[in-house]
Amino acid sequence: MASAGSAPEPEVSTVTVRPIAETIGIRKDQHIDIAARASSLHAGNTGLRGYRLRHRALPGRDLADVSLRTPVLGRELDAPLLVSCMTGGTPRAREINERLALAARDHGVAMGLGSGRALLADPSLLPTFRTAARPPLLLANLGAVQLRLGLGPDHAEHLVDMLGADGLVLHLNPLQEAVQPGGDTAFGGVAERIGAVVDRLRPRPVIVKEVGSGLAPDDVTALVAAGVAAVDVAGAGGTNWASVEGQRDPRAGQVAAAFADWGWPTARAIRHASAPARSAGVEVIASGGITDGVEAAIALALGATAVGVARPFLLAALEDRVDEALGVFLDQLRIAVWLTGHGAPSLLSPADLVEA
Ligand SMILES: Cc1cc2nc3c(=O)[nH]c(=O)nc-3n(C[C@H](O)[C@H](O)[C@H](O)COP(=O)(O)O)c2cc1C
Repeated sequence: MASAGSAPEPEVSTVTVRPIAETIGIRKDQHIDIAARASSLHAGNTGLRGYRLRHRALPGRDLADVSLRTPVLGRELDAPLLVSCMTGGTPRAREINERLALAARDHGVAMGLGSGRALLADPSLLPTFRTAARPPLLLANLGAVQLRLGLGPDHAEHLVDMLGADGLVLHLNPLQEAVQPGGDTAFGGVAERIGAVVDRLRPRPVIVKEVGSGLAPDDVTALVAAGVAAVDVAGAGGTNWASVEGQRDPRAGQVAAAFADWGWPTARAIRHASAPARSAGVEVIASGGITDGVEAAIALALGATAVGVARPFLLAALEDRVDEALGVFLDQLRIAVWLTGHGAPSLLSPADLVEA
């Protein structure tokens, strides 16, 4: 499925790597179960509810005249929302991805797939990632640290082509890898390798995200310099990956205990990412602990261009009610935008916020 003119498919021996895909699959299913537990939540909060949107009793327009339509990474979406990258690679992951993709398509929002490392190792896993329903913006995903461990721009491009995706999300998860027994902690030089992937995939967008500890201002500056199309702050206050890994292994649990409240709260991460990123034309996705449409509106007012949500939609997928959950979330966002006196989410700004 490589696109015309692209590099030849990288050679990946299925004989040696199939066990890797199986091992990853077991871990991915454990992640689903553990992330669904309340004990996997960050011990602190996102900081988003430290703000309130300025309520207007005279919103100035009919609710029906509010439009959530927003361009995100070159696609016109029905709302500035991304179902964040979660899973793939097992029959259970396939069912979850089918439910997420169907609802994302029907509501016209973006969706990220789970890490494609297992798929690169075992292409027969494709249907567990690429489902029949196609959201208007579909993103592939890889761990950025893998760029130090044998995967390169060829693999990244091959993954995007295999999935028929519109772009690639690279995730930065140093805390998760450090807590996980045998985790991949070779993070030296990762920023430079991200730049090489950006160059290979251009004009397709590369987005770089954290997974729940947030990006520091210096991280954002480095990623902007690497040429990424968007940063996703994935801040602290929602799923805590030290806690998830800590529940898979007793010793990892002891290490993880000290990191229960680690990281940049999402509100702060958005605030310090928005100026350097947006002045360089780089989009800012806000995620990490966002649970409803009011928190999404606060995140947009703080400077995000779109919002990402993972765990709450995982819980909905496990109960086969993603369509309803997405509908409620978008109703909340529409009402919040309206009650703040605007006709579109892109008009939200810090001037719409007061401290709670
Ligand atoms: C079950 C599960 C699996 C995840 N797998 C991935 C992944 O493969 N790649 C990735 O970039 N992020 C992954 N994430 C992280 C999310 O995309 C997100 O950054 C993080 O969970 C914080 O958002 P939340 O608080 O809304 O859950 C996963 C999250 C969950 C809940």
